[in-house]
Amino acid sequence: MEIEATLISEAEIQRRVREIGQQISEDYANREPVLVCVLKGAAVFFADLFRALSVPVRCEFIQLASYDDGTESSGQVRVVQGLNGNLRNADVVVVEDIVDTGHTLRTLMAEIEALEPASVKVCSLLDKPTRRVVATNIDYVGFEIPDTFVVGYGLDYAQKYRNLREIYHIKM
Ligand code: IMP
Ligand code: MG
Repeated sequence: MEIEATLISEAEIQRRVREIGQQISEDYANREPVLVCVLKGAAVFFADLFRALSVPVRCEFIQLASYDDGTESSGQVRVVQGLNGNLRNADVVVVEDIVDTGHTLRTLMAEIEALEPASVKVCSLLDKPTRRVVATNIDYVGFEIPDTFVVGYGLDYAQKYRNLREIYHIKM
């Protein structure tokens, strides 16, 4: 396994994060959305997006896991650390790193909807639409990417490479 090539540069990522931040700020003008960060992958994107918002905003964290150090989703999604915060009547924006098969997002939506928010939208930095198994709706997408395994900017392979500033493909 080796890092192959840059897929999305740091400058492209930063430009797109600012755009999405502006879009969410417009869409939630006069509201106070709650951004839910899906750990661990979305942590880096979340930190940048959160600071790109110009509306008052709260944050909550949830940790899910589906991979066992491989590159294929097991389809079995575990809630490692649940939501403790009150989301009742809140306008929630779920922040994900990548939507691949859609299994993780489905589990996530069930966890959040059980807390009876007023509304839920989904923001994902990356989308691999050709890999979808579970139909899902994503309201804000950073970049659509082909069916290739990527690391960096929060995304890992076997828990490594999350600290890289760009997004890379890796060759298996
Ligand atoms: P899904 O449940 O198959 O949609 O997968 C979602 C989760 O798998 C994401 O939140 C990521 O944590 C992980 N994932 C999917 N594709 C990649 C990738 O290319 N690189 C790193 N992690 C990935
Ligand atoms: Mg993830």
